[in-house]
Amino acid sequence: MAERRSSIHGQWSSKFVFILAATGSAVGLGNIWKFPYITGDNGGGAFVLVYLLCIAVIGVPIMMAEVMLGRRGRQSPINTMTTLAREAGASPFWKWIGWMGVIAGFLILSYYSVIAGWALAYVFRAAGGAFTGVGGEEVQRMFSRLVSDPERLLAWHTLFMVMTTAVVARGVRSGLEKAVRILMPLLFAILVILVGYAMNTGHFEQGLRFLFRPDFSQLSADGVLIAMGHAFFTLSLGMGAIMVYGSYLPEKASIAGTTFTIALLDTLVAILAAVAIFPIVFANGLEPGAGPGLIFQTMPIAFGQMPGGILFGTLFFVLLVFAAWTSAISLIEPAVAWLVENHGYRRLTAAILVGVLSWCLGLLTVFSFNLLENFMPLGFLAGFQDKTFFGLFDYLTANIMLPLGGLLIAIFAGWVLQREASVDELRLGDGLLYRGWYYLIRYLTPLAVGLVFLDVTGLLDIGGLLGLLF
Ligand code: PHE
Repeated sequence: MAERRSSIHGQWSSKFVFILAATGSAVGLGNIWKFPYITGDNGGGAFVLVYLLCIAVIGVPIMMAEVMLGRRGRQSPINTMTTLAREAGASPFWKWIGWMGVIAGFLILSYYSVIAGWALAYVFRAAGGAFTGVGGEEVQRMFSRLVSDPERLLAWHTLFMVMTTAVVARGVRSGLEKAVRILMPLLFAILVILVGYAMNTGHFEQGLRFLFRPDFSQLSADGVLIAMGHAFFTLSLGMGAIMVYGSYLPEKASIAGTTFTIALLDTLVAILAAVAIFPIVFANGLEPGAGPGLIFQTMPIAFGQMPGGILFGTLFFVLLVFAAWTSAISLIEPAVAWLVENHGYRRLTAAILVGVLSWCLGLLTVFSFNLLENFMPLGFLAGFQDKTFFGLFDYLTANIMLPLGGLLIAIFAGWVLQREASVDELRLGDGLLYRGWYYLIRYLTPLAVGLVFLDVTGLLDIGGLLGLLF
């Protein structure tokens, strides 16, 4: 057994705190804002099915691998990968997993913060009673008014970035840890209340049918890639966020057990959000494929009609902000940990540096909804004609960088790291569970990611194949 390292950044006080933090990272805008709208964009049931398959076959094994590598290396992802590659006698090339993750984290945070800013803006609208009695058209107008105003978006984006930087500067453990303990269960409760409301819209069944009856003629090759990319995005995988959190995990904690819990909670929140939203969409004649504005154009209708709507509406958007907040801090933690380790920066300085850079990049997303809404930076490429800066950043990170990072992590964990090392770190013995994971991470997981990439090139038709099965 290798000598046990410890992290210079400290450790979670218990396994339970790690689960909270990692669930905090996983559950965010991805579950409540992104999952419903990409499901709507990609035709519903078949997309949901592919997404669930990806969570099981790709997400869970890779999450175990990331936590394992993190705890073994006990440093920022860049240095963890450098150390573990050296110990395995492999090429230093593997540290590029860490670098690509840092870049992906920057890019994601830049637009994540803008969208979280929308949620912040909606807290005040909800609290001010702006939703009372509104219908479909009015909520759409309200949303356009917000996103077409660059100054307002900029202000909210700035506020959210300051919130994120402040927490990262203080260290992940103080403050937010306590808040998350109360807020996560509350978020859950309010989603259940919203599902209750959705049951009474008269369109509950239609919503369920849309979500759970797969129709593979509705799913394009790009849709398959988006479903897989989202499995990475929603579980915070492929960029080092979970790896860095794993590096603070106490020695005794079970990696398999914690991973299952996190993946389960994350999936549950996404499904609940979608089940709450689509009946409202159908009941009000809204468009399932309305795009990134979907929850902002549906939830207000529900809050405007239900008793106690002002309270629930405010609470919902506050919780959405918190969910986004706990995800955002994990997006820059890999970069901050690296700056502290390699350049001797104080956490405060490192956090501000990263926050400011990401804020600047975020301006491009702010303008993607107004001044630059018709500017497609890679418009000359097929498949990118309709992508603004925001669309481009989202596509590049979620659908390309995260799956690529995840693929490399799987290959490293399955083929480069010695088998004894993973047996030792996962603490599952050499039994069925370990072997199942080992088989997945060596063969099935990389193969699945590879096939989805192949699918987009048009050489393979996964949607068609799955359609034969279901
Ligand atoms: N998982 C987060 C969400 O669903 C986003 C995220 C991606 C966070 C990658 C960290 C790393 O909102």
